[in-house]
Amino acid sequence: MAASMAERILVRRIRCPIFTARREHRPKKKWASTLPAVSGPHLALQYFDSNYSLQFGDVWGSMRLALLSEQKYGALVNAFSRTEAIMVNLSALHSADCLRKEWPPGAQLSCYTFPRGDLSRFPAPRADALGLLEYYLMDAASLLPVLALNVQPDHRVLDLCAAPGGKTLAMLMQNCRFLAANDSSVSRTNRLRRVLQSYIPHYLRTEDRVRVSSWDGTDWAEHESYDRVLVDVPCTTDRHSLMEEDNNIFSRVRMKERQRLPALQTSLLLAGLRAVTPGGDVVYSTCSLSQLQNEFVVERALEVAATEYGIRARIQELRPFCEMFKDTFNFHVNCRIGELVVPHLAANFGPMYICLLRRER
Ligand SMILES: C[S@@+](CC[C@H](N)C(=O)[O-])C[C@H]1O[C@@H](n2cnc3c(N)ncnc32)[C@H](O)[C@@H]1O
Repeated sequence: MAASMAERILVRRIRCPIFTARREHRPKKKWASTLPAVSGPHLALQYFDSNYSLQFGDVWGSMRLALLSEQKYGALVNAFSRTEAIMVNLSALHSADCLRKEWPPGAQLSCYTFPRGDLSRFPAPRADALGLLEYYLMDAASLLPVLALNVQPDHRVLDLCAAPGGKTLAMLMQNCRFLAANDSSVSRTNRLRRVLQSYIPHYLRTEDRVRVSSWDGTDWAEHESYDRVLVDVPCTTDRHSLMEEDNNIFSRVRMKERQRLPALQTSLLLAGLRAVTPGGDVVYSTCSLSQLQNEFVVERALEVAATEYGIRARIQELRPFCEMFKDTFNFHVNCRIGELVVPHLAANFGPMYICLLRRER
């Protein structure tokens, strides 16, 4: 006897579990946990291989090798400590100041690096008699955005994305009149505070000299208020992403955040352009090789600044500036806008993208 319509539906429901469970009882498909577990560094390498081989052609091979090899550090001498003695000690390690001979206006800053091809490491810094650490270990290329900004003693400076604070320290060592150091992350701002405590004497950490805040930089409300603005944005941190699983921006759970980076970077650069006074300078920087996060962001921000806010800013030539550092850093030769330090086995600093913008009105 043929089954009735009701029986046929019942049989279908029993065979097919999707019909049996009510919507609220169905197991939720979690794509992040159901997809095969691929590590963040592995995904980063896949992404870089497909994008950077197109962007850089044959040169990508040597950059890739350097990125996967040990990074070089520089020791930024604490200008508030006993600098002469520190420099004697660093010289005794056969490292040399990579800034002093090449960049007279930045003479307040001294950063020691080992010669090209020398992969020695600096020992951890010690505290001096006042409890201040003698030097700050950082990628020496991270000082280029600070030097390009050319901070002078009478300047009011904004560091919009400041934590953990290597560049903030360098700008404070240039004795600017006032520095606002901001970072939207509260935990990272606390880290920045600890860095300042370890390197800056307490009498210079007053509110009228340095102010630390944890605001969203895209909403920066002080317009036309600063002579210099550093916009060192969150990015794909290419070297970190290839090496560290922890907090990796290429992990599947952070995919949306990564895709939104260029929009966030553009908003932050726009905020920087609004914060600087006409005639003042903004440096936009990232530690990524990606054109999407570098040149394209600068172009888009300039366009929006002009159309939405009537702000005109011009990109400044940095080639002569970079020429002064060519013995220490390896610069990409074909950067359309701004300059890019690319990792190289003999000079394994970077990536560091720098673009200097002068606001005209
Ligand atoms: C590349 S890191 C800055 C490094 C820092 N300039 C230094 O030299 O140590 C980018 C920073 O941007 C911060 N950030 C992300 N989104 C932000 C936002 N909307 N406003 C301000 N800071 C933000 C992150 O917390 C991160 O600390």
